[in-house]
Amino acid sequence: MIPCKPIGQRLTLLFLSFFVFSIVNVSAQDGKALFMGKCASCHAMGKDMTGPNLEGLEERWQNTDQIKVWIKNWAKAVSAGYPQAVKVQNYAPSAMTAFEGSITDAEIDAILKYIREWKPVVVDPQGGGTVAPEKGNSNAVIFGVISLILGIIALILMQVNSNLKKMSDDAEGISRPDPVPFYKNKAYIAMAAIVFFVIGGYLVAKGAIGLGRQKDYQPVQPIYYSHKVHAGINQINCQYCHSSVTESKHATIPSVNVCMNCHKAINTYEKGPKLYDENGDEINGTAEIEKLYKYAGFDPKNAAAWDPSKAKPIEWVKIHNLPDHVYFNHSQHVKTGKVQCQSCHGEITQMDEVKQASELSMGWCVNCHRETKVDFNYDSTGNKFYSIYEKFHNDLKTSELAAIKGNTTLNAKEKKFKIDSLMKLVRMDSVRVQDIGGLECQKCHY
Ligand code: HEC
Ligand code: HEC
Ligand code: HEC
Ligand code: HEC
Ligand code: HEC
Ligand code: HEC
Repeated sequence: MIPCKPIGQRLTLLFLSFFVFSIVNVSAQDGKALFMGKCASCHAMGKDMTGPNLEGLEERWQNTDQIKVWIKNWAKAVSAGYPQAVKVQNYAPSAMTAFEGSITDAEIDAILKYIREWKPVVVDPQGGGTVAPEKGNSNAVIFGVISLILGIIALILMQVNSNLKKMSDDAEGISRPDPVPFYKNKAYIAMAAIVFFVIGGYLVAKGAIGLGRQKDYQPVQPIYYSHKVHAGINQINCQYCHSSVTESKHATIPSVNVCMNCHKAINTYEKGPKLYDENGDEINGTAEIEKLYKYAGFDPKNAAAWDPSKAKPIEWVKIHNLPDHVYFNHSQHVKTGKVQCQSCHGEITQMDEVKQASELSMGWCVNCHRETKVDFNYDSTGNKFYSIYEKFHNDLKTSELAAIKGNTTLNAKEKKFKIDSLMKLVRMDSVRVQDIGGLECQKCHY
């Protein structure tokens, strides 16, 4: 018998228990995390966004299979004539991402389960803040406990195994050196060290990359200024205040004098709904407008004496911050790319206080560049910049095809293969941001 076999068996057992654990983990997909990762850039629960509110989704469709077809490729669901697909296809001017190949049935089931079980967040009228009925972490705890139990079982089994071995050795009269206790066993120590470095290294790297990221950041501002009241209820256009957003890299924050264009006349807050801060405390809108007057140096009783040049700037806290090594340009996205503010900033018109809705990580930028089609709007706006791509596309098709057909050194099978692959390439129905260089490091990094 080979002396090192017991160690081999123990390792096998240990790996087996890890394996069982990972299977359990995969089959119980976290629908919420999947929804947040894949869908939340366009969909929210309980309200419409770029995509429609998904609350009560399954009641609108004939069956879940149709929903699955839609999520994988909405165009197929439309051409199959599913009534809800036909109905909802024109909900937004932009199309939903086709997830075919990047989502599994099990993942869709998990997302649908999350949608089915989702309940609106209940606002406690006593002012106790918001109460979320669901507990997100319970799954993690269950998996932790399961893996702990499996680990203990594996250890017990290994102990039993080694005892049995010892007994059978004793019975057969084979003498072996005393077994090394497990904490001195080199194989265990090496394995513990590897596990430690892999997990530790992963956590350190992840933590370092995430430094400075601040999704959901919602600082308290000097004035409780509500986007819901202004951009939502009163439908003031974003560009009235963030005027440079289509012209330059940055979206400007409006000066006090822009506010005063309206607030010279509007000195009370009475028409809109009650306002609450994050803790659920009621906000007096009129008192907030008076804060604005302090900055402006404006006395509503003596409006004629107001001198706009004496206004002091309001020190708004900047919410969205990219690191200095990243170049991001608003006009490129808003004007040329026709990306909606909401795709990146969330449903601002529903927010009283602005909150950072997206992660602003590199993965976030890159994923959108992978999925989003470039709007070749050169017909309507006279932007000839992109016409070159269409020309390349057509040139490629005709000249390459002629070259393959005219090539006498190829046999019929090789020709067919070459033509097929060319047609695959030119049949590419659309050009995505990644195809015009949206994944090139130097486009985003100085
Ligand atoms: C890029 C934006 C975008 C993303 C990402 C996105 N959707 Fe959509 N979705 C839409 C739009 C827009 C519509 C409305 C149809 C239209 O106008 O083309 C829609 C419609 C739907 C519908 C039909 C809704 C109804 O009322 O019947 C379902 C179901 C759906 N999406 C599920 C998902 C799921 C699940 C995910 C994540 C895996 C997802 N979507 C990710 C944009 C998106
Ligand atoms: C009446 C003026 C006004 C209008 C209209 C307005 N905003 Fe704002 N916006 C502000 C002010 C003032 C701030 C800074 C205070 C704050 O963050 O709430 C701001 C902040 C923001 C921020 C956060 C900036 C940061 O610090 O990172 C975003 C994003 C934003 N606005 C988007 C929008 C969008 C999208 C719309 C249209 C739906 C809009 N705004 C309409 C005045 C306005
Ligand atoms: C493609 C994503 C994207 C779109 C679309 C977008 N923004 Fe932004 N926005 C950002 C990012 C990223 C930042 C942070 C920029 C930085 O720190 O340099 C930002 C910052 C801002 C700021 C803070 C001031 C500044 O420029 O840093 C305001 C205000 C703002 N956005 C308003 C808007 C408005 C209004 C629209 C729609 C007209 C809009 N954004 C569309 C991604 C986007
Ligand atoms: C285009 C007109 C317009 C502009 C510009 C404008 N407001 Fe308002 N503001 C309103 C209206 C309308 C109301 C709601 C009044 C009501 O419902 O009684 C309001 C309400 C308010 C309120 C009370 C509700 C709340 O949001 O807390 C504050 C504070 C306020 N504005 C501050 C500002 C500041 C600061 C600016 C500049 C960044 C500004 N406003 C720019 C029209 C404007
Ligand atoms: C919601 C989708 C979306 C997100 C998120 C997004 N972009 Fe873009 N981006 C686009 C689109 C669409 C274009 C193409 C614009 C055009 O037609 O030229 C683009 C173009 C660009 C370009 C020019 C590429 C080229 O080759 O001309 C740069 C640079 C860029 N984005 C940087 C960023 C950075 C940095 C971020 C993250 C902070 C980001 N983008 C996030 C949609 C997005
Ligand atoms: C579409 C825009 C975009 C492209 C293309 C891009 N990056 Fe980034 N990158 C970013 C943004 C945004 C961040 C900041 C992320 C953050 O704050 O966490 C970043 C951060 C980084 C960091 C710092 C670590 C981190 O994740 O924060 C490194 C390193 C990096 N990028 C390297 C690259 C390399 C190498 C390439 C080319 C293969 C590349 N980037 C292409 C947008 C981009």
